Amino acid sequence: MLIAGNWKMFKGPVETAAFCLALRDAELGDADVVVCPPAVSLEVAVQLLAPTEIAVAAQNVHWEPDGPYTGEISAPMLRELGVYGAIVGHSERRQLFGETDETTAKRAEAALAAGLEVIACVGETGEERERGETEDVLRRQVSVLPDDDGLVVAYEPVWAIGTGKTATPATAQDAHAFVKSLLDRPVLYGGSVKPDNAGELLAQPDVDGALVGGASLDVDSFTAICRATRPG
Ligand code: 13P
Repeated sequence: MLIAGNWKMFKGPVETAAFCLALRDAELGDADVVVCPPAVSLEVAVQLLAPTEIAVAAQNVHWEPDGPYTGEISAPMLRELGVYGAIVGHSERRQLFGETDETTAKRAEAALAAGLEVIACVGETGEERERGETEDVLRRQVSVLPDDDGLVVAYEPVWAIGTGKTATPATAQDAHAFVKSLLDRPVLYGGSVKPDNAGELLAQPDVDGALVGGASLDVDSFTAICRATRPG
């Protein structure tokens, strides 16, 4: 099972170094672990976690290898740094920065072609769920994603992100099974995953791990979630 910590816009290089040093000594159970620091902190994370099995991924990646794209970072640049993968299509990018299904797909394809692993985020808003559109939204978002061994999907219902409102295990299971019926890839759950709800979510047969926001910023809560994974 994969547990990925999406730090969002938290932790510069100094805090990142302290976190990674603590993580090196922590008990992680059987989980495959990934941390996703902000771009400026990737290098120190890669260096400090190099002696471990813990991987480092970026929070976004552009589809061109280089060019006049102010503020963007390319897949070859991430590879040069020793980064293992990238998140694409996070709902915060979709809602706040104009990311679309098409740009998400382009980012995913370029990253995979460059040899990065990709965590592609999908998920419905609260209004979409209330209107009964969850499956339509997931179908639209998943249909553009490449069927590739390097791709993992993260089901992150927007209404559960940063709200403390977690999807029930049954709701998560239903959505994951639906996503897998469209694209046969591992699916992580994201949205207010905490140490006290991780076990029941990760016990669902189609929940293959978690993409953790707030609770990934603290070594104790992040590693408690890692230890909540079921074996295998
Ligand atoms: P929270 O765990 O803070 O709800 O964030 C989830 C998320 O957006 C992970 O990408």
